[in-house]
Amino acid sequence: MQTMVETRNLRKTYNRADGSTIEAVKGVDLEIRQGEIFSLLGPNGAGKTTTISMISGLVTPTEGDATIGGFSITRQAMEAKRLMGFVPQEIALYPELSARQNLAFFGRMYGLGGKSLSRRVDELLEFVDLAHRQKDRIDTFSGGMKRRINLAAGLLNSPPLIYMDEPTVGIDPQSRRRILDTVKTLRDEQGMTVLYTTHLMEEAEELSDRVGIMDHGEIIAMGTQDELTQQVGEEDRLEITTGAQNVGEALIERMQQEIAGVTRVLYNPPEQIGDNGSESTPARLTVFAKRGRTALPQIIQTLDAAGIDIQSVEVLEPDLEAVFLALTGRALRD
Ligand SMILES: Nc1ncnc2c1ncn2[C@@H]1O[C@H](COP(=O)(O)OP(=O)(O)OP(=O)(O)O)[C@@H](O)[C@H]1O
Ligand SMILES: [Mg+2]
Repeated sequence: MQTMVETRNLRKTYNRADGSTIEAVKGVDLEIRQGEIFSLLGPNGAGKTTTISMISGLVTPTEGDATIGGFSITRQAMEAKRLMGFVPQEIALYPELSARQNLAFFGRMYGLGGKSLSRRVDELLEFVDLAHRQKDRIDTFSGGMKRRINLAAGLLNSPPLIYMDEPTVGIDPQSRRRILDTVKTLRDEQGMTVLYTTHLMEEAEELSDRVGIMDHGEIIAMGTQDELTQQVGEEDRLEITTGAQNVGEALIERMQQEIAGVTRVLYNPPEQIGDNGSESTPARLTVFAKRGRTALPQIIQTLDAAGIDIQSVEVLEPDLEAVFLALTGRALRD
């Protein structure tokens, strides 16, 4: 598969107002292939926006370079930028203009005009499902609608590559769903390459062909989701809810020793929830096991024989959250 974006030792050091400096991006090497959705996943401040701002030529790298379709963003900026649509993290629309006027304005900036511009605007309003609101001013739109117009603006010049910087932050669930579906449509029906950033594991998991996990200015892991989860081993997590008030150290010990694949068993007592502790969550046994499904029958048998009732069982495969946890010792959500 052909390479769409490649970065080499991309670095950015910002000067702060107080005279100090911050290394926002510390030597990023990544490769994005044509026709894939590539997500940069990382917590706030990881360096995602700085990285894609350098890739798209909005921020000059302190060191290193990126190529888009073979064109260097530092030395062949015109050619490189022509291949790329932008959907920035901050919404960039004119509040007092209508949706249609905004798109027409940005279209003219890309050198479009006349009937072909008008047709492209129609197409995109239709695509983001806002044709019925095209004459309304942007400042009367909801956050989610603004995001969708922002997305349409990034598609005006029909680029083969689009980047979207956390396009679902702070919007309602329906708009979020639409945007995620739109991203997949761009890849599946138009063969576009998408560079997507998010701090949400669920989004990266749903969308990505490949993921780069970013933390403190560095890509700490990169690959398909399978490749990434294999890095942390193949332990599944079994979540078992039970009515038992306690399971006892001896039983836990025995499960860890005797059941093939089981590495660790944790018991979490019921937790009081609700206003006055009127309700509680069930007690929970968490079992870490290699090939969790294979180990499951023996786990159930053992609990059964010990008189521990089982209310539900869930087998969770290793996910990106587990990868981030293993590599950084922190949860992605923190
Ligand atoms: N223009 C700037 N001047 C100084 N420091 C900056 C500037 N832009 C970003 N930074 C710093 O660089 C680091 C990385 O920021 P960046 O915006 O790239 O992170 P991010 O991963 O996009 O975070 P978020 O999820 O919050 O958008 C942060 O510590 C940030 O404060
Ligand atoms: Mg950002």
